[in-house]
Amino acid sequence: METAKSAEKGALKNPYSTDDAKVVEEGHEIYMAAGCNGCHGGTGGGGMGPPLSNPVWVYGNDGDILFRLIALGTTGLQEQGYTRKGSENVVGPMPPHGNIVKSNDDMWKIIAWIWSINPPDKSASAAQ
Ligand code: HEC
Repeated sequence: METAKSAEKGALKNPYSTDDAKVVEEGHEIYMAAGCNGCHGGTGGGGMGPPLSNPVWVYGNDGDILFRLIALGTTGLQEQGYTRKGSENVVGPMPPHGNIVKSNDDMWKIIAWIWSINPPDKSASAAQ
């Protein structure tokens, strides 16, 4: 939570890779334990919240943006000057989860899992 508040824009990087099957699996377990599946579905297909598995990304898919969105929620992210770029079938605020996901480490593992079901477009993320 604090990291997402204090880090400069674009400064947050995922230390994990989707090639690490153990990290990806742990990420999914943390995602389920944090209750993300209540809105995004157990496999990320969506529900009350937008799907994580489709090609549309509301703010972008790089680690910096996803970390902030998950930790700070929609309101906190937008307060930092990030704006919606994509539109999903569900448009609404996501609540902050920075106090539910216990550590930065857990956060990055969740993001590694999200990337494993929805690989970031390499060219797009390289341009960030
Ligand atoms: C109460 C419902 C709810 C819960 C719980 C929830 N989310 Fe969300 N999530 C949303 C909504 C609504 C949005 C759309 C936000 C927006 O448009 O500003 C969203 C957006 C997202 C996005 C961006 C999706 C895209 O297509 O760009 C990601 C990634 C995400 N959530 C991950 C998570 C993770 C990880 C957790 C658990 C730590 C979580 N969410 C818990 C409702 C929820």
